[in-house]
Amino acid sequence: MRMTAALISRQHQSARRSRLVPVFDFESVLADTPGCRDQVFLDSAGSSLPPRPVLDAVVGHLRREAAVGGYRAAEERVDALAAVRADIATLINAQPESIALGDSATRAWTDFFYSVPLAPGDRMLISRSEYAACAIAALQRARATGAVVDIVPATPTGEIDVEAMSGMMDERVKLVSLVHAPTNGGLINPVAEATRIARNAGAIVLLDACQSVGQLPVDVARLDVDALSATGRKWLRGPRGTGFLYVRPEILTALEPQRLDLHSAKWVGPSEFRIASDATRFEFWEHNVATRLGLGAAVRYLLDIGAHRAFAEVADRGKYLRAALSQIPTVVLHDLGTQHSGIVSFTVTGTSPNLIRDQLRKNAITVTVSHRHSTLLDMTTRGLDSVVRASPHYFVTERQLDQFVTEIRRLAHIAT
Ligand SMILES: Cc1ncc(COP(=O)(O)O)c(C=O)c1O
Repeated sequence: MRMTAALISRQHQSARRSRLVPVFDFESVLADTPGCRDQVFLDSAGSSLPPRPVLDAVVGHLRREAAVGGYRAAEERVDALAAVRADIATLINAQPESIALGDSATRAWTDFFYSVPLAPGDRMLISRSEYAACAIAALQRARATGAVVDIVPATPTGEIDVEAMSGMMDERVKLVSLVHAPTNGGLINPVAEATRIARNAGAIVLLDACQSVGQLPVDVARLDVDALSATGRKWLRGPRGTGFLYVRPEILTALEPQRLDLHSAKWVGPSEFRIASDATRFEFWEHNVATRLGLGAAVRYLLDIGAHRAFAEVADRGKYLRAALSQIPTVVLHDLGTQHSGIVSFTVTGTSPNLIRDQLRKNAITVTVSHRHSTLLDMTTRGLDSVVRASPHYFVTERQLDQFVTEIRRLAHIAT
């Protein structure tokens, strides 16, 4: 079935449902995305194109700050700022008190990670698709605390090997880091299954959901993770410099952030302070109000579309691209897993991924290259140095996907 047919049939189905069911209105999505008109944008796994409401929220607030000053401008938006947290909570099926707002996925991940107590001999488990920033933090803490980092192997299809992981668990495993969808390809890991094993063995589970929130439906109650980190600028289509952390309420007060300020804690006596009892213990007072409002607008935009609907659109495009690229003899697809996200990774025999990216850019097609050092364990195991990464969001049209495939076909032909 052609992608357009799938899109149209879903639009008809949604029109028949009640108005409370989010409707994917492709025309308004295009109209809301000025950046997608003059280019083929395939980099939502990098930094996506924010829709107009996000742009308006950020720019509008900056203008207001210029008019009345940052403090008054923020006071005027107290309700809207509270709604950011509440909307994120709705999106991932959590309570607002469990959400800490921050400036990136790595900040969120490390804020949580560095608060987990570790002693010599303790173990941290990471997996083959670990993102570099998280692996580096784990290695640094191992060096500082005498804990060790162990790597959970992958199955032949690339997912985290839950059976092997089960065999690795013992009482010394204090933390398990899981990656929902890695940065360098279409893999989706079996998070709920891995979490069950880790938590049954008494370990804390921290989920890197940087590439999944905004792309895949994410439900923390279903996944049962202890903490989750996410970014604003990728699949959520928020502004750069935004992100958030979710922490399970039951473990929140047991974890003391490495750094505190007068927002995460209160100075209650000359030598006394009290740490916030909710997830704001992982926030600092000063923040970019404009981008935070922009993140809120992005989350609301997705809630209006519906996370399941958004993923169905993204997955369709990923599938369409993989099918079309697989017809080109010198293209090698590198997506692992049996269930795929919208991240499509590939190489063209005889041409470097950087060259492909640069040539595409000359033709107004945006992709990125994922390098070995971002996911060192996985790329080294597979003997890959870099891959082209095409990540179409739901605003990419079928015609644009075809344009991209035609260009890859032309470049592949030149290379041979
Ligand atoms: C899987 C994964 N985890 C974490 C990160 C880090 O996100 P941020 O740059 O927002 O800190 C990325 C960024 O590309 C990623 O792809």
